Amino acid sequence: MDAAAAILRAGGLVGIPTETVYGLGANGLNGEAVRRIFEAKGRPQDNPLILHVPGADWLERYCRNIPAAAYTLASRFWPGPLTMILQRRSNVPNVTTGGLETVGVRCPNHPLTLEVIRRADIPVAAPSGNTSGRPSPTCAQHMWEDMEGKIDAILDGGPCGVGVESTIIDLTCRPPRLLRPGGLPLEALRDALGEVDVDKAVERGLAPGEKPKAPGMKYRHYAPRAPVTVVTGDPVRSARYIRRQGRGMGVICFDEYAELFPDCVVEPIGPAGDKAEQARRVFDALRAFDATDVREIYAQCPDEGGLGLAVANRLKKAAGFHVVEV
Ligand code: TXA
Ligand code: MG
Repeated sequence: MDAAAAILRAGGLVGIPTETVYGLGANGLNGEAVRRIFEAKGRPQDNPLILHVPGADWLERYCRNIPAAAYTLASRFWPGPLTMILQRRSNVPNVTTGGLETVGVRCPNHPLTLEVIRRADIPVAAPSGNTSGRPSPTCAQHMWEDMEGKIDAILDGGPCGVGVESTIIDLTCRPPRLLRPGGLPLEALRDALGEVDVDKAVERGLAPGEKPKAPGMKYRHYAPRAPVTVVTGDPVRSARYIRRQGRGMGVICFDEYAELFPDCVVEPIGPAGDKAEQARRVFDALRAFDATDVREIYAQCPDEGGLGLAVANRLKKAAGFHVVEV
């Protein structure tokens, strides 16, 4: 942890474990260090980064006009898989926020990373630690596959317990708006705040030229090399539909249906009723197909209650929103 903190203070890049996915961390107040993140990931410059802090008592350092809702959410859900968009202070460099007047802030629930941030005494800017466009890494090994030779260190904190990235809520508008579904369910936000809107980029692909509020939502994401088709609807029917598509394909399915596709490369993501397990496994499943020669991939998809909204969103983004309803 001391070594990681020293690298961060010196402007280097460190892979950090969080409860959601591994992040690629740098000093968020150092524009040069942050630029290296974009280089290592091949990330478009207009896609802003999240600042990781050890608690709500750091919010005032980097944000202004902080609404009461931010403290309500922080006291309920931090440390945890929730990122809040707030107005930024001018000490946060443009390169960190992609030129926006707002900044995303999150307190991750991982003891090693919290300790590193405290020892370094700087806010750590960290996107997910994958090469831009690939599935997010949920263990140190996956981050190594993407980042070997490009960064200074990875702090191995074990596999990620949540498996999808944080939920992002914009608190600079009224009502607050969900920009990205993630490890904290929308229902929990509504329970804490009342009304919460859902950004259109969560549910569907964007028309050419259309701008989402979270710049990252406009890029094709999480995509294996083979094209993906998501099949929504009752799992018995979606399994039957996928089975009819032929042989030799890649299939992401619920555990109960794994035996139905004998000639396929099958990646089960957990029981149909266990969305937390599906969240933990969805990125590993998407990543696994790149080591095979499948030419197309079909995926069963959970309903959108609870963590299902985040799992479905990641699958649909991997599919470029190519969705079949059965
Ligand atoms: O769970 C997570 O959030 C992980 C771990 C490492 O903390 N991080 C992560 O970062 O997923 P990244 O960069 O892969 O995704 C951040 C998303 C992007 O879609 C970005 O456009 C959006 O957050 N974002 C960041 N700052 C924003 C801002 N000021 N306004 C709107 N969207 C913002
Ligand atoms: Mg990412």
